[in-house]
Amino acid sequence: MSTWANLNLQDSASPLMEQLIFFHDHALLILVMITVLVGYLMFMLFFNNYVNRFLLHGQLIEMIWTILPAIILLFIALPSLRLLYLLDEINEPSVTLKSIGHQWYWSYEYSDFNNIEFDSYMIPTNELATDGFRLLDVDNRVVLPMNSQIRILVTAADVIHSWTIPALGVKVDGTPGRLNQTNFLINRPGLFYGQCSEICGANHSFMPIVIESVPVNYFIKWISSNNS
Ligand code: CUA
Repeated sequence: MSTWANLNLQDSASPLMEQLIFFHDHALLILVMITVLVGYLMFMLFFNNYVNRFLLHGQLIEMIWTILPAIILLFIALPSLRLLYLLDEINEPSVTLKSIGHQWYWSYEYSDFNNIEFDSYMIPTNELATDGFRLLDVDNRVVLPMNSQIRILVTAADVIHSWTIPALGVKVDGTPGRLNQTNFLINRPGLFYGQCSEICGANHSFMPIVIESVPVNYFIKWISSNNS
């Protein structure tokens, strides 16, 4: 989860988010190099007195400064496409979780097992425990096994919502009448916080998501103690 004064991306908890961070750093590096070069060139323009009264054309330099940016863009576009298709890949998931967006809470269904389903509401500030996170903690967490491929199906019951967990690199819109799919793998135990990220009405800010990542045997224990 994000803590005070963190201006960076959150630490990744999945291989896909790791790749997203690598791509972000790569793109930022190219951006910095371009900014420094152009900045230097513009700055230096103020300090030169060279005037070429007979300059009419410069075929070579125009060729260079047209093709070079195109090549630089390729260095961003190709890794970007690679990541895009990687994010879409489904890799034999062992658990499927269905999350349904409502105004304003999420509900979850584990249809693989005992047809477990529950609602997950934000804990209001006045009911928060002293160690709780304001606007972020929920009454019923999503328990998921770590080191397993997990498929999530996202939909909504009323308006568009978005199921978003920054540390896992997951962001899927829940649209009424549609089922969207994505998958991820959590590579460590812990709590991972997320929020809805489609403006879905007055309480858009108050429908957070909490994932409790646990070892597989704990997950089996949890799922079999939950006969709803
Ligand atoms: Cu649901 Cu914003």
